[in-house]
Amino acid sequence: MIAGALQRLGERVDRAQKAIQEIYTARTKTLGGAYQASVERRDSNVRRDSASPCPCPCGRNENDGKLATVMRFARPFVSNLRLVGIRRLLTHGLLVVGCSPSPQDVVDDAGRSTTNDADESASEVGTANHEGSGSAADDAGTSASGSISVSDGTATIGDRETEGEASTGDNQAVVDYATLREAAAAAGKRIGVAVRPDLLAVDAEYAAILVREFGDVTPEDSGKWGVLAPTPNTYDWDDMDALVDFAGTVEQAVKGHTFVWHLQTPSWVSESMTADQLNTALRQHIETTLDRYRGRIRAWDVVNEAVNIDTESGYTESVFFNVLGPEYIENAFFWARAADPEIMLIYNEVGIERMGPKSDFTYDMIEDLLARGVPIDGIGFQSHVSTHRYPSETDLRANIRRFADLGLVVNISEVDARTRAVPGNEASRWQAERVAFQQIVGACAVEPGCEAITFWGVTDQYSWLNDDGPEDGLIYDRSYLEKPAYRGVMDGLAGFLPTRGANRLTNADFAAGSEAWSAVGGQLAVGPAQGRVGNAGCVRGRSGATDGIVQDDLLDDLAVGGPLTFSTWVRASASSTVDASLLITETGAEPYEFNVATIVVPSGAWIELNGNLTLGFEVAPTAIGLKVHGPGAGVELCVADVRLQPLSVDTGPR
Ligand code: G3I
Repeated sequence: MIAGALQRLGERVDRAQKAIQEIYTARTKTLGGAYQASVERRDSNVRRDSASPCPCPCGRNENDGKLATVMRFARPFVSNLRLVGIRRLLTHGLLVVGCSPSPQDVVDDAGRSTTNDADESASEVGTANHEGSGSAADDAGTSASGSISVSDGTATIGDRETEGEASTGDNQAVVDYATLREAAAAAGKRIGVAVRPDLLAVDAEYAAILVREFGDVTPEDSGKWGVLAPTPNTYDWDDMDALVDFAGTVEQAVKGHTFVWHLQTPSWVSESMTADQLNTALRQHIETTLDRYRGRIRAWDVVNEAVNIDTESGYTESVFFNVLGPEYIENAFFWARAADPEIMLIYNEVGIERMGPKSDFTYDMIEDLLARGVPIDGIGFQSHVSTHRYPSETDLRANIRRFADLGLVVNISEVDARTRAVPGNEASRWQAERVAFQQIVGACAVEPGCEAITFWGVTDQYSWLNDDGPEDGLIYDRSYLEKPAYRGVMDGLAGFLPTRGANRLTNADFAAGSEAWSAVGGQLAVGPAQGRVGNAGCVRGRSGATDGIVQDDLLDDLAVGGPLTFSTWVRASASSTVDASLLITETGAEPYEFNVATIVVPSGAWIELNGNLTLGFEVAPTAIGLKVHGPGAGVELCVADVRLQPLSVDTGPR
């Protein structure tokens, strides 16, 4: 049965590879000399993270280096290399640019030495990661054992034993695919990327990655109104046409972005217009654009970022809102549906991927629009996150589920991650990025309501995040090499979520009374939680928002830094905002608060507060504690089942 399933899987991979091969060949032909030049340029490149011009002893065998480079670009053609071995082989190829390492020189992205034996890698071809019913050890020293079943591209191992707590999907061994596009297809998800069409013509490597790895494309800027129609009644379609043509050639689906946004709006669209004039202009823009690309574009972000809970109205006070009121939102969707009944219409928003007031406001707004028959098909969670703080698995999944329950498809629509906020070297920042991406992509992979993941750019070379200094927020580096994040995405697509280690908190469930806990302001009382099983710690007599419950002495466990997940259940005696913060003292500095999670709680009900974060330090910290606080004076604050757990991912070779 296993052999049959693997064979069917292999046949599917072969078919996908053949399709990509055809696409790739067509594109390569078009790029012609530019493509060859790019391959040659890569040959003379060096590893981007090396202090020396060449990371491995150069000159050992220059031809081997060239071979590895060719292997990298030949990947879509190598149909007999599949499943586990292909990634390993190609990863080795990626690390070799311009010179060839000896077996002991090759370093995997966990920083360990691995062998560089192509024959050994090739010999693994056609086997699953953990095949049969034996046992296999992963990097964390945990073991996997039990029977294996294969279905739809993933091999599942039963009875996986872990020391910590396995997240959903953790008991899956990953069958690797050659490309993200294949992995996404096997997972039944769409994988997309924001594209700058101007680069397609001049940058063959950019185009090659785009075709090879992504099934969907979206214009990063060239579909915006201000870019398309900088002056009234004239359109410059060149870049948008180029993208749609390119995508058509290589069988990628296009998602348009975006008809209505308060930024990159033409300067002639202003508050001096009457409501009639602005409505007419907006309607014509939507109709003209949809008419031009009828049948060639799959979806459009119709309205982007209409919510801003920091304003009195809760809406972004754009020219559209100020002249037309919030009705512009439903009108834009009605006009788009009338102009093209076939296209998927999406509402796209920033900062709603985590549960919280903005996500709640957006949810209520969309629920109301749908109830009134407004034709919205999908929701985009932009997900411009930071490795410093990003949604936890439970948070993101619950959020996906509630929007999906409204009948919407969910698109994680603009993924990238700022990595500079967390001090550390490049390896630790990139590892944190890998964990974050695996978390986000994995949450989408395991939630049926999530349809697609779209990255906001291909390479760090061109990311908009660089506007504020280099952030390294995407899955390819500036030399277009795969970063560790690439594997995080691969593993996430397989539904393989980061693993939670042991809880770093003492007496986390208050079973030992108040041991290890104290109150900052007010009085701590520990007893049976009302409305929950087990005990809770409650702080009464609080005199203000900074009063709360604290656990100190976390220094030994947390000083090492790295990715963590936090969760607790909280209850307040009045509707309030509750915060969880780490209290960190670095040598010679004042303690500072590192916000971990925030939530608005209803009065008297238990609610989960959670979030993911990465810790890193400029200088060695001298104290670390955890505090839960937030509600105003007189509000009783209770917590139960408090967890702070390291997150790790399987960095073992494939
Ligand atoms: O087109 C001009 C070019 O002619 C000029 O030479 C150049 C000089 O800097 O600027 C070019 O325009 C820039 C444009 O990107 C194209 O590169 C704009 O200055 C720049 O502001 C614009 O930034 C875009 C940004 O939206 C605008 O706010 C980013 O590329 C784009 O990634 C970003 O994308 C947004 C999404 O649409 C919505 N969600 C948030 C996301 C990130 O801000």
